[in-house]
Amino acid sequence: MRIGVFDSGKGGLSVLKELKVLLPEVEFIYFADTEHCPYGNKPVEYIIDRAREITRNLLSEGCECIVVACNTATAAAIETLRREFDVPFVGIEPAIKPAAAISKTKVVGVLATANTLKLEKYHRTRDEWGKDVKVIEVPGTGLVECVEQGTDATPLLRKYIPMMLEQNADVIVLGCTHFPFLEEQIRAIAGADVSIINPAPAVARRVAEVMKLKTETTITK
Ligand code: DGL
Repeated sequence: MRIGVFDSGKGGLSVLKELKVLLPEVEFIYFADTEHCPYGNKPVEYIIDRAREITRNLLSEGCECIVVACNTATAAAIETLRREFDVPFVGIEPAIKPAAAISKTKVVGVLATANTLKLEKYHRTRDEWGKDVKVIEVPGTGLVECVEQGTDATPLLRKYIPMMLEQNADVIVLGCTHFPFLEEQIRAIAGADVSIINPAPAVARRVAEVMKLKTETTITK
């Protein structure tokens, strides 16, 4: 079986890593839309057009399922893709549900792109699962570029992470697939007591479920 995975750039590789661990038998085709990266500040119609074109491309390669390994593209385009194409789509969204479940302070930080945070799909997720907690939303402007270009994200993170900690957040949700690549730097600023949540393993499990695939029993972080 062949499955297509896409993101605006390298971010979705953090999802691909988990997919490969859980589903070693599957052949994955990864599409990094680096020429059009970042998506986080582009108009929604632009992102929908990119998602359509990439989907067509992956389907022409024989993919039977498409993983939208980008929170921004999921929020902007997955509903359109599901309407227009006859294959299963699995997306990724900021993991507010598990974050709310483990937070002791009942304050959860979400670090995502400006687009994700302003789109309706995210608002629905937040309003459904974040009812019992305070959700601090911080747009991680500039972080995607740091990951793409391999430049130091620490100065930006020193601004963004304290915005959550100062309001007593004890869980940080990585709401963009580029951000797991910054986990070490985030951890260094947030300290050991703050939980950092990356939903990529859950996305891999969802793909297995949707495609009814046999999985490896363990999944590494
Ligand atoms: N990896 C995308 C996400 O999860 C990055 C968005 C961007 O290109 O700005 O939101």
